[in-house]
Amino acid sequence: MTSPTPSAGPDPSVDHTPSAGPDSSANSTPSAGLLAGRRVVVVGGASGIGLATVRAAADAGAAVAVLDADGDGAIAAADEARRAGATACARRVDVTVEDEVATALDDVAAELGGIDAVLHVAGVMRGQGLDVRDVPVELWARVIAVNLTGPFLVAKHATRHLTPGSGVLVLVGSKAGVLTGSGSVPYGASKGGLHGLALTLDRQLRPQGIRVHTLCPGDIDTPLMRRSLDEARANGTDGGRVAAIEAALGRPEDVASALVLLASPASDGVVGTVHSG
Ligand SMILES: NC(=O)c1ccc[n+]([C@@H]2O[C@H](COP(=O)([O-])OP(=O)(O)OC[C@H]3O[C@@H](n4cnc5c(N)ncnc54)[C@H](O)[C@@H]3O)[C@@H](O)[C@H]2O)c1
Repeated sequence: MTSPTPSAGPDPSVDHTPSAGPDSSANSTPSAGLLAGRRVVVVGGASGIGLATVRAAADAGAAVAVLDADGDGAIAAADEARRAGATACARRVDVTVEDEVATALDDVAAELGGIDAVLHVAGVMRGQGLDVRDVPVELWARVIAVNLTGPFLVAKHATRHLTPGSGVLVLVGSKAGVLTGSGSVPYGASKGGLHGLALTLDRQLRPQGIRVHTLCPGDIDTPLMRRSLDEARANGTDGGRVAAIEAALGRPEDVASALVLLASPASDGVVGTVHSG
C-alpha cells in the first residue's frame, strides 16, 4: 500500500455535505444546475481539460473530487472549486499504480458519500514526430501505462462505487487512434485501445445501470498540446504543419462542457462514442 496521499482535506470552514452547489438561479451558464446533487470525480483534474472540467462541474452544481499525479495541482483545483461554492476534495494518485487508484477512489467515495460520475481525463502525449523505427520501447510502455492501463485501473475500482442505475464513466480519448492517426505512435495506439476499452466496458456495465462513453476531442490548447507541438518541431515535423495545428487549437472549456453534459442525467439517452472539436 502507498503512504497516505496529500489532500485538500476537509476544510473546517466549509460544509462538506454534498450539496446542490452554487445557486443555479444566479448562474446563467447553459450547464447551471445540470449536476446538482451529483458527486463527480475528475481524474487528471490539475491541468488543461481536467482543470476546466473541475471548474465546469463545480459551476454545474456538483460535489467534486480532484485526482491527479500532481498532488499540489489537485489541491489547488479543489480549493478553487470550494471558493466557487462547491464541495470539493483532492487526492494525489498515479493512475498506473493500482493500490493508489483503489485507495484514492475509496477515500473520495467515503468523503463525498458515494460517486455518481467518474471523468477520466488524465493522459500523456509523448513521442510526437518520431519515426516508428526510433520509438524506444520504454517510451511506448510509459504512454500505454498512463493512457491505457490507467483508465483500466480507474474503471476497475470506480465501478465498486458508481451509483447503480445512474452511474457514469467517461474516458477521455482522442480523435487520434479513432478518427485519425497521431503524430505519436504510442499515443495513437493508446487512444485506440482506450476506445475499445470503453466500448467493452459499456457492453458489460450498461446492463448494471452504469453508462460508459469515450469523449474524443480534437486539438485543444493545453500544456500537453503545447509540449507536444514543441516536441514535434524538435523531432523535425514540418514547421508549417505545426503552425497550422497551433492556429486552429480549440478551448479546454468546450471539452469540459461536453464532459459535464455526459456526466448529467440529461445524457441518459446517449450511447457510445462522442466527438468534440
Ligand atoms: N490537448 C489536446 O489537444 C487533447 C486532444 C485530445 C485528447 N486529449 C486528452 O485529454 C486528456 C487531458 O489532456 P490535456 O491536454 O488537458 O493535458 P494536461 O497535460 O494539461 O493535463 C493532463 C493531466 O493528467 C495528469 N496526469 C498525467 N499522468 C498522470 C498519471 N500517471 N496519474 C495521474 N495523473 C496524471 C497530469 O498531471 C495533468 O494534470 C488526455 O487524456 C489527453 O490525451 C488532449
